[in-house]
Amino acid sequence: MKIMIVGSGGREHAIALKLSESEQVKQILCIPGNGGTANLPKCRNIAMNVSDFAGIARFAGVQGINFVVVGPEDPLANGIADYLQEQKIPVFGPTKAGARIEASKIWAKALMVKAGVPTAKGESFTKPTAAKEYIASQAAPLVVKADGLAAGKGVVVAQTQGEAIQAVDDLTAQGFTTLVVEEYLTGAEVSVFAVTDGQTFRTLITAQDHKRIGEGDTGENTGGMGVYAPAPLVTPELMGRIEREILAPTLNALQAKQIDYRGVLYAGLMITPSGDPKVLEFNCRFGDPETQVILPLLATPLEKILAACVEQKLEALPPIEWHPGCAVCVVAAAEGYPGKYRRGDEITGVDAAETMGVTVFHAGTQSRQQQLLTSGGRVLGVTALGEDFKAAVDKAYGAIAQIQFEGMYYRRDIAHQVLPKPKPASAPTPASEEVEATAISSADLEQE
Ligand code: AMP
Ligand code: GLY
Repeated sequence: MKIMIVGSGGREHAIALKLSESEQVKQILCIPGNGGTANLPKCRNIAMNVSDFAGIARFAGVQGINFVVVGPEDPLANGIADYLQEQKIPVFGPTKAGARIEASKIWAKALMVKAGVPTAKGESFTKPTAAKEYIASQAAPLVVKADGLAAGKGVVVAQTQGEAIQAVDDLTAQGFTTLVVEEYLTGAEVSVFAVTDGQTFRTLITAQDHKRIGEGDTGENTGGMGVYAPAPLVTPELMGRIEREILAPTLNALQAKQIDYRGVLYAGLMITPSGDPKVLEFNCRFGDPETQVILPLLATPLEKILAACVEQKLEALPPIEWHPGCAVCVVAAAEGYPGKYRRGDEITGVDAAETMGVTVFHAGTQSRQQQLLTSGGRVLGVTALGEDFKAAVDKAYGAIAQIQFEGMYYRRDIAHQVLPKPKPASAPTPASEEVEATAISSADLEQE
């Protein structure tokens, strides 16, 4: 097989690495790829812009590729899948109509409401004054969202009405003309991925992403600062509910709109304190950095899953298999991210980190004259596997300590909520208390 991957982040590096491990995959062409894909076996970076649909289609045709996998949301929202399909090039990724599930929060909300999919109550506004009047009538906290694509940065969780009103001004000043004001949901967030051929779907293992820049989940939202999988929160019973209450009705609603959705349906969910799953957002692609923990645990060859979706044969695919254990990915970001960030700094220590048994995924790197340089806000993702979360966390942090670049920042608390809690330090129990405790419990037994 010959496969083309569109994109240049850690997610695309993870997809390329997984595909390169299969004997069935003979060549991988990355458009444009990054410093990580440049060094993978069977992999070739092609310096082409992801928005050059005509160039990509022509090159794919000449190379005789089996299918194209589209990583990021922008080309999908701009219709790359439609274009490639018109040129008879098979593609993993939904059409422009399907990508609206991510590209327009209003469209996605309307689809969910109509399909009865549980989600936060929200209203949309094209006039800032109307948004502010609505905010004044609602109890805080509130969430203010820009309608279009914003790379995870168009969402403000406002603790007060004043902050929500400020968010309306800020997002309007950034050029967003349509806003959504949403009810604030509490609970635990989880990322759920379904691959679909448009007719049926299969879920992958779940992941928990750390979206905020600061430790303890504080500060600004980012694209994701670290992640772990599988999410212990999602029991098989809860997954059954997510499939029945969220994924199946959403896919049905897409089908009812005659949308050709072959790709990933990614549900960002809040598991509310009552245990009910509610949708925060849908995305039309694999998550980044979630892919960097999900794919290393995948045992079924990835190209089989992707091809089954592209060829609309997912129903016939044998059950997807997984390696046992856990995966943890810690993201190293450039100074300033998620705001204006440094770039062009030399990165050292990647090889030393990898000798410690981790995979270093390149998210924003560039190779230039034998040097590896930073070129994005999220620079690297260090993924470690372990038989449990403790082993994976220790390995990931041990390895990331080998890596250096000017202004490098990473959170030190990734996956810490799933580590075993340290036993509280207790004073040695006096012998007399031990005797008393034994006496009480044997007395209890006698009473029974
Ligand atoms: P989104 O891009 O819609 O997923 O929003 C980015 C992040 O903002 C989410 O991962 C949540 O942490 C937070 N968020 C979004 N919507 C809500 C909501 N209705 N209630 C609470 N937090 C939210
Ligand atoms: N990690 C969040 C996303 O991919 O949107």
